[in-house]
Amino acid sequence: MAIVSASILAANLAYLSEEVKRVEEMIDEIHLDVMDGHFVPNLTFGFPMIEALRTFTNLPIDAHLMVTNPTELIKGFVERGATRITVHQEVCYHLHRTVEYMKSLGVEAFVAINPATPLFTLDEILPYVDGILVMTVNPGFSGQKFIPTMLDKIKRLNDIRKGRELNFKIAVDGGVGNENAVELVKAGVDILVMGYGVFRNPRLPELRQEILNASDQ
Ligand code: DX5
Ligand code: ZN
Repeated sequence: MAIVSASILAANLAYLSEEVKRVEEMIDEIHLDVMDGHFVPNLTFGFPMIEALRTFTNLPIDAHLMVTNPTELIKGFVERGATRITVHQEVCYHLHRTVEYMKSLGVEAFVAINPATPLFTLDEILPYVDGILVMTVNPGFSGQKFIPTMLDKIKRLNDIRKGRELNFKIAVDGGVGNENAVELVKAGVDILVMGYGVFRNPRLPELRQEILNASDQ
């Protein structure tokens, strides 16, 4: 069953609680994009935002840490109610240690890779993670276009998962919506992160149904 993770970066932040309530029945979790202006060319949310979210929603929250020092921030997000932490392979010198640390804190441990980062860089960590987040845009902004060659990357990751008999989840983030969500589910994706696809999509109810149908097949 594929699930929808709503990236609030694409919401109207002036009305965040109303925005989340508006889509709450059609999403499964909240995706919080934490950006530091160094690892990615944008600045977004920190601890005050997850604290605010926790005042009005009990949905699971994934903190996607697009920062150069993710390890230092993990505990703070867990203490404030994150249920999953996603760190980038590109900035973790000791990725195994970081993954084990996340798991020791009782949250799901995901590792993200940028579009240009090859799958083989994950070879040694796959048995330890709860999931891999495949970035399908260069991280930094909502509303970018899905990079088409990423579909094949996802299929190859799914093949690796089957071949090695592992059961990590596959998440996809960037440019996901009406045009490609079903295809991605069929390619093996378990978690669809969507910004525009959730908050700026008049077809969200239909898309939600299509995702559910595709998951059954
Ligand atoms: C991109 C972020 C994404 C982004 C997704 O750097 O990690 O989570 O908000 O937004 P859409 O779905 O609009 O591409
Ligand atoms: Zn994200």
